[in-house]
Amino acid sequence: MKERILTGEKLEIDSTDEGLRPSRLDEYIGQDEVKENIRVFVEAAKIRGEALDHVLLYGPPGLGKTTLAHIIANELGTNIKTTTGPALEKSGDLAAVLSTLEPGDVLFIDEIHRIPKFIEEILYPAMEDFELDIVVGQEGSSRSIKIELPPFTLVGATTRAGDISAPLRDRFGIVSKLNYYSTEELKDIIKRTSRVLEMDINDEAAQELANRSRKTPRIANRLFKRVRDFAQVAGESEITKEITLRSLERLKVDKYGLDQVDIEYLESLINKFNGGPVGVETIASSIGEEVSTLEDVVEPYLMQEGFIKRTQRGRIATDKSYSHIKKGGGLFDE
Ligand SMILES: Nc1ncnc2c1ncn2[C@@H]1O[C@H](COP(=O)(O)OP(=O)(O)O)[C@@H](O)[C@H]1O
Ligand SMILES: [Mg+2]
Repeated sequence: MKERILTGEKLEIDSTDEGLRPSRLDEYIGQDEVKENIRVFVEAAKIRGEALDHVLLYGPPGLGKTTLAHIIANELGTNIKTTTGPALEKSGDLAAVLSTLEPGDVLFIDEIHRIPKFIEEILYPAMEDFELDIVVGQEGSSRSIKIELPPFTLVGATTRAGDISAPLRDRFGIVSKLNYYSTEELKDIIKRTSRVLEMDINDEAAQELANRSRKTPRIANRLFKRVRDFAQVAGESEITKEITLRSLERLKVDKYGLDQVDIEYLESLINKFNGGPVGVETIASSIGEEVSTLEDVVEPYLMQEGFIKRTQRGRIATDKSYSHIKKGGGLFDE
């Protein structure tokens, strides 16, 4: 198994995350524009006594989409029901979740880009008119029935806004993109995590961890926990920079926050394909990764940090990645 501490998607459903999840807008660090807009829209919906308009949240994994969906329900003072696009296989699956909704509730559909097309079509009238049209009975004797739904708010989350059909996207009144976090914001998140988990971290160490967290809160928290393991085993009561550096070296997280998969990606691009241009499918098969992992998790950060560029003819390595990889792609190179 490769080290998946950074990019492992399965690890996302990590129930130990729960305690770290902020539950109010005021505790949600960063994403100021999105946060302030949502604050206004929630307030307005409450003043009018109406359900909040449907919200679409998009951006790379680990930036706080699920967290924000829960916060929205909390701030509205309603329940949240959760499902995912791929879990909705039959029209009955959607009907089952919709029928549990009470007025004003939030229905959270994660990975909404993976919803089957025919379910998506049932969703349209549900979103627009709070009506569910479903076909019941056997072929030959089937009939269509209309079920009235209470007004509700659909919150959809996706890492791939481009994969959402235009008619679905157009039915969201609020569409917000979550961005990568600044190092300062990540530092605040790490300090908050340190308080929640009751393990001190000094400023220098928090800074180092923030620098290497791929600008992503989930990774900051995950690395914090691992570094805490190293600190506790070493009998330290505080996380120091020295412990942080040592742990990150063991975890193979380099000074840019790149992990083994990122490094393999760049090494493949540079050494096997002369720096590109080369298609993502080719890189994926050369390093034994899923194309979707590369596109959703690995590449957005490499692009954001200027390690690669996407061109018409494929991916190309930048000077920055040449100077990083040429030096061995190793850790702590200067
Ligand atoms: N703005 C934030 N402030 C503090 N912690 C956050 C924030 N966004 C995310 N987190 C932390 O990162 C973890 C991952 O966030 P999550 O909402 O699951 O991301 P996504 O759904 O976008 O993949 C959460 O459990 C939470 O602890
Ligand atoms: Mg999520």
